[in-house]
Amino acid sequence: MRPLDFLGSIKLKLGVVIVFAVAVTVFVDAIGDRIGLSPLVTALVAGAIALAVVQLLAHGMTSPLREMVGAARAMARGDYGRRVTATSRDEVGELARAFNSMATELAEVDRVRRDLVANASHELRTPIGALRAKLENLVDGVETTDRAALAGLLDQTERLADLVEQLLDLSKLESGAVPLERGHVEAAMLLERVAREWRPLAGERNIRLEVVVDPPGLEVLCDERRLSQVLGNLVANAVRHSPDEGAVVLSAERENGRIRYEVTDEGPGILPDEAERVFERFYRSDRARSQGGGGSGLGLAIARWIVELHGGSIRAEEAEPRGCRMVVELPT
Ligand SMILES: Nc1ncnc2c1ncn2[C@@H]1O[C@H](COP(=O)(O)OP(=O)(O)O)[C@@H](O)[C@H]1O
Ligand SMILES: [Mg+2]
Repeated sequence: MRPLDFLGSIKLKLGVVIVFAVAVTVFVDAIGDRIGLSPLVTALVAGAIALAVVQLLAHGMTSPLREMVGAARAMARGDYGRRVTATSRDEVGELARAFNSMATELAEVDRVRRDLVANASHELRTPIGALRAKLENLVDGVETTDRAALAGLLDQTERLADLVEQLLDLSKLESGAVPLERGHVEAAMLLERVAREWRPLAGERNIRLEVVVDPPGLEVLCDERRLSQVLGNLVANAVRHSPDEGAVVLSAERENGRIRYEVTDEGPGILPDEAERVFERFYRSDRARSQGGGGSGLGLAIARWIVELHGGSIRAEEAEPRGCRMVVELPT
């Protein structure tokens, strides 16, 4: 029982405790006088009763502080599960509530970190496993060391290198260690350069890669290399998911004082309930997973970081009649 929990301030609680203690003392004094106890005995009895009253009323006023000390020590050891009693309405209660929500957030950060390590190791294991199997075959003479075998090895090695590169990039972005180098760039030039890079791959499946900039001379303020990286990621996804002979459109326009970039394809699109999740690290839809190939699910997570560093936003929409439209909006 914490009798003073309903009071909203420590000062008020202390006041109440003092008033009660004094009242008890005066009362006991009066009684002692009346029944003729010696002043010393009366004072001792009054003191004892006043202490008991203080103990009763002040119960629970400081115990959250002690609980917090214990919980903080547990956290230092990596145990984020402890919470402190936060029933009081005063400053200690407020502190306890803030402490509890901090503990919840730290637990979440810790969970995300563990997930990241687990996912990263899992993703690294796949190409390493393939490499090892192939190399074992070559060493045992089950396969011959021809050009095709070596090309396969190179493929897996490149996948590994890409993955490590992406992980490093993401960790740099997240730690804020990459300052943006903003400059004025012509949007048409930027988009055309990204398109040129992906046309050969798109051409293999007769996919048209179109660039639309409105107005044609539109200039944007951005970190050119980073924005190209974002658009390149989006175009790579669009081409991968596009049907043969489909169209992938890369566009930029000014809208309400912002620059709006879109990458639209005619593929299967992204389900509305996955639209947010695709931006999580390592998230790939079941379909993307089962088809194999492609990346590790880091591309859109990196894209979101870069866009948010620019003060912009990125989202996935459904295109009409079918397909996926990725929308990036940046401040001018
Ligand atoms: N244009 C698109 N059409 C359909 N699904 C997409 C598209 N772009 C992204 N996705 C989905 O989002 C997931 C995450 O994309 P991304 O982070 O680039 O990872 P990755 O390309 O390595 O799979 C993909 O696995 C896929 O399921
Ligand atoms: Mg991708």
